[in-house]
Amino acid sequence: MAIFRKRKNDALPEELALPVHVGIIMDGNGRWAKKRGLPRKAGHREGAKVFRKITRYCASIGIKYLTVYAFSTENWRRPEDEIGALMGLFKSYLEEALSDFKDDDIVVKFIGDRTGFSPELQALMDDNEEISKDRKGMVLNIAMNYGSRDEIVRAVKNISARVSSGELSQDDITAQTVSDSLYTAGQPDPDLIIRPSGEYRISNFMLWQAAYTEFVIMNKLWPDFKEADMDEAIQIFNQRNRRYGGV
Ligand code: IPE
Ligand code: IPE
Ligand code: MG
Repeated sequence: MAIFRKRKNDALPEELALPVHVGIIMDGNGRWAKKRGLPRKAGHREGAKVFRKITRYCASIGIKYLTVYAFSTENWRRPEDEIGALMGLFKSYLEEALSDFKDDDIVVKFIGDRTGFSPELQALMDDNEEISKDRKGMVLNIAMNYGSRDEIVRAVKNISARVSSGELSQDDITAQTVSDSLYTAGQPDPDLIIRPSGEYRISNFMLWQAAYTEFVIMNKLWPDFKEADMDEAIQIFNQRNRRYGGV
């Protein structure tokens, strides 16, 4: 549920309700580069800068949970050199986050199957989680090698193993049992999911968690996304009437 924001800048009026959990499908890097006659990896480089900026902005206005979709389980289908460039960008970010972003007070978590990454990247992911776990600020979930179907299959396997072992009775399985078995266990469902780049699809992002999420599709490519676009998305979110099946 939304909370009332503390006034920290003039762009957003004080009475605006802030979504507690925001998801962003960071899409459009390739098209941004293509428009400029640049290789796709140049778009990813720019997108990574925008990710750093928007993450800090979300923390500064009081967002409690931010989940960014950085790499899907399907993105391995891309050409080898593009994947290589993305892995390089992940590495630079994870190294920087360890040494340079210490004052940001952000709790960093990774959602997705990290065993798909190199041992070096996996170690950086573990280190980032470890170093940030006691911080008090915004929780940043970085979805890497994340696919929601994969996440749900993993949850089903986990629940069935608990039933087989007798730890859990089949009759006691509820929607909450499933939520508690996802990567986002213990976190509120996203209130708002933003997809830049104008695509009207979910692309395997938070299928279970987004049951009652408000979607805002924006016609901007991710590398062009600004703080003001985040403000606009929050303003649009405020105009929505969430009914959760009621009246
Ligand atoms: C999103 O931008 C970044 C990743 C999926 C890693 P895209 O690379 O999908 O950019 P478009 O959609 O091709 O423009
Ligand atoms: C979704 O974007 C995944 C990320 C932004 C990481 P895609 O570009 O992979 O999605 P599709 O292929 O357009 O559905
Ligand atoms: Mg895309």
